[in-house]
Amino acid sequence: MTDRGAMRGLDQWRQRLDRWVLLVPYACLAGSVALSLVADAFRLLPAKPFLWGLALSVVAAAWLAWFVTLHPQWEHRRGLMAVFFLGHLLLIFLLIWVNPLYGFYGWTGYLVLVYALPGRWRLVGAGAVACSGAISQIGGFDTLTALNGRIAFAMVLALNLVIAVGMTHLTTATHEQSNRRAAMIDELAEANERLEAALQENAGLHAQLLNQAREAGVLDERQRMAGEIHDVLAQGLTGIVTQLEAADAARSRPNDLCRHLDTAKRLARDSLAEARRSVQALRPQNLDAAALPDAIDEVVRGWSRLNDVTAELITTGTPRPLLPEIETTLLRTAQEALANVARHAGATRVALTLSYMEDLVSLDVRDDGTGFDPEAPLAADYPGGYGLNAMRERVIRIAGRLDVESEPGAGTAISARVPAIAQGAAA
Ligand SMILES: Nc1ncnc2c1ncn2[C@@H]1O[C@H](COP(=O)(O)OP(=O)(O)OP(=O)(O)O)[C@@H](O)[C@H]1O
Ligand SMILES: [Mg+2]
Repeated sequence: MTDRGAMRGLDQWRQRLDRWVLLVPYACLAGSVALSLVADAFRLLPAKPFLWGLALSVVAAAWLAWFVTLHPQWEHRRGLMAVFFLGHLLLIFLLIWVNPLYGFYGWTGYLVLVYALPGRWRLVGAGAVACSGAISQIGGFDTLTALNGRIAFAMVLALNLVIAVGMTHLTTATHEQSNRRAAMIDELAEANERLEAALQENAGLHAQLLNQAREAGVLDERQRMAGEIHDVLAQGLTGIVTQLEAADAARSRPNDLCRHLDTAKRLARDSLAEARRSVQALRPQNLDAAALPDAIDEVVRGWSRLNDVTAELITTGTPRPLLPEIETTLLRTAQEALANVARHAGATRVALTLSYMEDLVSLDVRDDGTGFDPEAPLAADYPGGYGLNAMRERVIRIAGRLDVESEPGAGTAISARVPAIAQGAAA
């Protein structure tokens, strides 16, 4: 059960108890009627006729029933409750005037005042009830006519007042304390509920974040795979197709035919090996066997041989091993830039510069080919157009930048700048 549920249970229990307590006056009234009947039958005490008491008792019971039992919702209507208490008190005095034995009913005034009167008014009410109690205890109003009776009344009243005021004070304090405690428990329960809601919201956000991180991871991996497929498989297949077409055209020249077929076979083997490494997320084979400048140089030489275009690599600065991701990115940039030159530029010369600076490494690939407008959008039905974007994404992923400078008829310059993070520095 929650705190709020427990509080509600406690409240219901208290209300049920209050309802039972409010039945006590009826019982006391019935007891008083019975006592006065016996006293009347045996003439035990001087009293007014029994029937007067009985009639007043019926009025008192009806008064209680109307204001409390039948209309419990009036409990918080201060004015009505004051009227009810005053009527109840008047009836007590009248009943005691008829027969002092009704003092047995009179003490229920204390119960009623806690129910009907607020705060300090309870003390005033308690004083009045104590007065009625003292009169009944000294034997009724008749006793007050003698001096002795009045002295006895004063003493008994004093005692009654001390007890009544003390008890009322205590009851009021306890009541207020329990009200404050109930309010505090209510506040605590509310704070708990808010905390629980906040925790639930947090858990929801956490799950959402995890989901987003997972999706970002999946997207990242998908981009990596797409890049690898483009740079490794598509380029390899393009080269093989070119060689097979050349072989087809060289059917009458057995030497050339064999050369093209051999190249196609080698390309197929290399591409297969590279594809396997891509699946295992390993770095390119060239980089495993050599340092970055040598690996790029090997690619440049092979490309130059294959495409019969002059190409050379110049390395400046002091070459040093860099993080595998950085070296792989630069190698792939060189490969795609060269592949583009071969496919689109119709160049006669390509110059590559690999520069090692203090914090940066840059790779520039310049050709003297046809050039193009980098801002011009590709035709919607153009089947390619992935290479430059993939190149840029790769470079950006390692916090670098890629610039493409070109215009029709003026060749093309591709420049990648990446941070020079030494191998092992990430740890
Ligand atoms: N060196 C270059 N010389 C001339 N045009 C180029 C050069 N590099 C790129 N381009 C132009 O830019 C376009 C986009 O190049 P990108 O590499 O993105 O796609 P693609 O090579 O056409 O196809 P793929 O997706 O197979 O790489 C090319 O279609 C070409 O028109
Ligand atoms: Mg391309």
